[in-house]
Amino acid sequence: MAQHSSLPGFRDFYPRDFATRAHIFSAWREAARRFGFEEYDGPPLEALELYTDKSGEEIVRQLYNFVDKGGREVALRPEMTPTFARMVGARAGELRKPIRWFSIPQLFRYERTQRGRLREHFQWNVDIVGEEGVAADAEVVAVALEALCLLGLTEADVVVRLSDRRLMERLLLHAGVPADQLMAAYAAIDKLGRVEERVIRERLETEAGLGPASVDEVFRIFRLGELSALEGAYREVEGVAEELDRLAEFFRIVDDMGLGGFVTFDPTIVRGLAYYTGIVFEIFDRQGVFRAICGGGRYDTLLEAVSGVSLPALGFGMGDVVLKELLADRGLVPEGGAGVDFYLAAVGEEERRVVRRVASRLRSQGYSVLYSLRPAGVRAQLKDADARGARRVVVVGPDEVRSGEVVVREMATGAEERVRLEEL
Ligand code: HAM
Repeated sequence: MAQHSSLPGFRDFYPRDFATRAHIFSAWREAARRFGFEEYDGPPLEALELYTDKSGEEIVRQLYNFVDKGGREVALRPEMTPTFARMVGARAGELRKPIRWFSIPQLFRYERTQRGRLREHFQWNVDIVGEEGVAADAEVVAVALEALCLLGLTEADVVVRLSDRRLMERLLLHAGVPADQLMAAYAAIDKLGRVEERVIRERLETEAGLGPASVDEVFRIFRLGELSALEGAYREVEGVAEELDRLAEFFRIVDDMGLGGFVTFDPTIVRGLAYYTGIVFEIFDRQGVFRAICGGGRYDTLLEAVSGVSLPALGFGMGDVVLKELLADRGLVPEGGAGVDFYLAAVGEEERRVVRRVASRLRSQGYSVLYSLRPAGVRAQLKDADARGARRVVVVGPDEVRSGEVVVREMATGAEERVRLEEL
């Protein structure tokens, strides 16, 4: 018989892996709850054109798309944002603004599989619609950090690297990038630090059509790095001062929230996706060992493009793959499964009937209960209880049935307590 394994880039979640996934999801949901975001979901399959129009080249190249039996061009969702924009747009009039929603979709991208990049992943999406001020940008950064802190990560582990496309647009136009080549320039710059500078230079020349002097100026901007250095060099350039002031306000808010230590300005963060229009950010491990844990930003024109309703919007996606790698590296993945509250061991056939009745009662009270499904020796049952992480064990034999009293043994401490069977 043929041995089947999962497809490359797709994961099996054995219970141990599933427990880690559930641990991450519960931090995501708890952070979202603390910040008052409501959960939603959409379909995993969408019309192909939802992505070909809006997502940008890189994601479109990675689409899992096909023609369905009705002749429709469809694609598995590679990201949630177009679906989110479509859903919000369809009911924009009746929804209370700002809209604060989150979701944990499984997404599919035909990527070259490598460390931190698979062909499916779960991605926590948190988005706000209907608020143009930077307080909203700070809010989404804060909720992302809340989840990471809930998982045990600190300022020493993670950093938010952030920029603003409006500022970079001003600077790139000043450097001589033609307005219609900004996307191509962002796409090239997005690779800074990940591919050789020579390659980026070449892409800026061939794909964004820049002359050598413009390319030099672009590199100069990105080498300056610090916000204060950019301010010193370019504040007088048209439109730059107001963008710098906006960023300064953002940083003030983040400081008020007590998160200043987590966030740093980094002009090389432009994001690969086409729809971003304002502040953009990515979260990385501080040592820079892993790929991005999270990426997002403001996309004030996407809703209009998808649904005809013009509303400012922003948010992020945080993937489970890199996050899990980082948590494992820091020893922050909880050991062991959930275990059970009770394991009931029966000495003989008669007691098995008692065990079944007691188990039903305990379960209806909300306890998790296990017992052996087939007759087994008491020693084997106790061994099984231990292996399955039972917190309490009760042995029911003829004496216990006769006296109506059992001993409940706490596995962690060894403490024993006599309890009436009916009271269990
Ligand atoms: P993205 O940067 O493409 O953004 O993905 C966000 C995060 O999802 C990444 O930082 C990474 O952790 C994870 N991720 C992406 N692709 C993969 C993959 N192939 N394997 C494992 N993890 C992956 C977006 O998707 C935007 N739609 C996020 C967003 C929401 N922006 C605004 N709202």
